[in-house]
Amino acid sequence: MTARFKFSDSIDLIKSIKTSGTITPSSKNLVRRLLAPIDFDSARCIVELGPGNGCVTRSLLKRMHKDCVLLCLEVNSDFVVQLNRVEDSRLHVYNACASSIRQILDELNIDKVGYVVSSLPLALIDDEMVENILAEVGSNLKEGGRFLQYQYSLANYSDVKPVFSDVKLRFTLRNMPPAFVYDCIK
Ligand SMILES: C[S@@+](CC[C@H](N)C(=O)[O-])C[C@H]1O[C@@H](n2cnc3c(N)ncnc32)[C@H](O)[C@@H]1O
Repeated sequence: MTARFKFSDSIDLIKSIKTSGTITPSSKNLVRRLLAPIDFDSARCIVELGPGNGCVTRSLLKRMHKDCVLLCLEVNSDFVVQLNRVEDSRLHVYNACASSIRQILDELNIDKVGYVVSSLPLALIDDEMVENILAEVGSNLKEGGRFLQYQYSLANYSDVKPVFSDVKLRFTLRNMPPAFVYDCIK
């Protein structure tokens, strides 16, 4: 399960640019920075929003504890088919909008989670839906839980700030395009 760049991954992202918001999968460097705040020894449930063709997903699975589950919510059914090919019993893939976190946690009898990792293209999603998704994330995180989101700009900083007690920003040039990581603590 190595995170290798495949040309076909870019083709898939370009075909769905209106909802993917990018033409290349995230670089290893961006993924490393995005996941750096996660305590993989203690995490037992991680939610991933907008996994696409799975470059963040594979890194999560590589580092997750054997008893940790990963719940991925993805709207693009072609990506869902690809993600379902990953053979790992800890991975649960849902063809669902990021705003339906609560329904999925209810199905699994999970109260709240420690981490939500997101590659959602917030800048392309309408304001009402962004507000709705962020409210869902906030209300389903444990106290002290983290929302980790990357973006290519700071345009959504003002949407994220009121939902969390602290938002730290990191920046990496080593991605195409360069990206900000929003590290949000409940
Ligand atoms: C930038 S791609 C992420 C791909 C991969 N995680 C990466 O970092 O390279 C964003 C993904 O978010 C998905 N997406 C967009 N809106 C969504 C929503 N409301 N709920 C769930 N997934 C969504 C898109 O289909 C796309 O796969």
